[in-house]
Amino acid sequence: MEIKTLQSIDSTNAALKRWLKKRTTREPAAIIAQSQTQGRGQMGTSWQDTPDESALLSVGFFLKSLPIQQQFFISMAVALAVKACLKHFGLSPTIKWPNDLYCNGHKIAGILIENQLVGATIQNVVVGVGINVNQASFPGLPHATSIFLCSGHKLAPRDVALQCIDELEMRMDWIHAQRFDFIKKNYLQQLYGVAAAKPVMLPDGSVTNGIVRDVTSSGRIVMAFESGETADFDIKEVQWQLPLR
Ligand code: BTN
Repeated sequence: MEIKTLQSIDSTNAALKRWLKKRTTREPAAIIAQSQTQGRGQMGTSWQDTPDESALLSVGFFLKSLPIQQQFFISMAVALAVKACLKHFGLSPTIKWPNDLYCNGHKIAGILIENQLVGATIQNVVVGVGINVNQASFPGLPHATSIFLCSGHKLAPRDVALQCIDELEMRMDWIHAQRFDFIKKNYLQQLYGVAAAKPVMLPDGSVTNGIVRDVTSSGRIVMAFESGETADFDIKEVQWQLPLR
């Protein structure tokens, strides 16, 4: 794996995409940054970091041929990799569908996956991960936390980023080997709301208890409710009630 470390960049995802266009090899490549000026989050949001206190990284992987309909397997594998990275540093985070990592009910890491398609096939994937490492507070972000707040330990953000890259490489081998059932089984075992029903807000704004029954390969979540009904939802249609308990 070729790894570039930068002090400051607009966004590691954007920088990696620029780099991948110029590279001639299909080997995986990664960028680690100490801070971002235009960090990007899911669904067009921004991702703020405190310079030198977060692990900010993007890794690019080339795939042989993964149909776009199976894209959520990448998301599951990446969430499992970030969870394993945090476990390496002594935490036991929960995965919140689709792929946020929570510790003690607060968000500790976010994932932004950008697929490059050729027709209906994913040709390469840029996996961006932001992990809050040493922050002692998050003014204006009541639902955020860091490794330091959860464990009491300060770490070098670069060590966390390198560990995360290792874990991602390992999980991406599962994708290359098409171990889809294995990935999904692991993901569902770790997912918030699978073991017991939890309060969730439905698209009409009502809150009820729901339990996760499944996720589809395109990423929809299948939930069962107290009423006995089952329904599936797209990203942002349903929201667990925060903080997660
Ligand atoms: C989210 O939870 O909304 C996803 C946040 C992803 C942030 C990371 S930080 C490194 C990489 N570069 C970006 O611009 N975004 C991702």
